[in-house]
Amino acid sequence: MAVRNIVKDGDPVLRKQSRLVEQFDERLFTLLDDMRETMHQAEGVGLAAVQVGVLRRVVVIDIGEGLIELINPVITSQKGSQTDNEGCLSFPGEYGRVTRPNKVTVSAQDRHGNPFTIKGEGLLARAFCHEIDHLDGKLYVDLVEPER
Ligand code: NI
Repeated sequence: MAVRNIVKDGDPVLRKQSRLVEQFDERLFTLLDDMRETMHQAEGVGLAAVQVGVLRRVVVIDIGEGLIELINPVITSQKGSQTDNEGCLSFPGEYGRVTRPNKVTVSAQDRHGNPFTIKGEGLLARAFCHEIDHLDGKLYVDLVEPER
């Protein structure tokens, strides 16, 4: 495993669309392992492959309840709303208030290509939304609301 460089604000790759993963192979496993190590080293709760410069639909999340790997994730339902501070490893030291759904259901594949469904509430729902947005070139800074 290796820690990879995290792409920072201003790099145009962050605005690009990531492509579907079609091959569940050694190369994907290495990417996932490196992403996990990179996220943990940076003390983040989520990381999308585009943030290490790889335009594939791959996400890792760890909000302190264990590692979640999402390949080709799609939000299939959402409910309620929550507003809280949000940050991103590509915008170090910055944060802003963002409203997200409070509960989301995600369909994805695991590293071997097996489909599964996972639900998240609160911070986990926020992490799902934030990371899946990255796969479509969307950034939390687009959603920041002014302080009231
Ligand atoms: Ni981010």
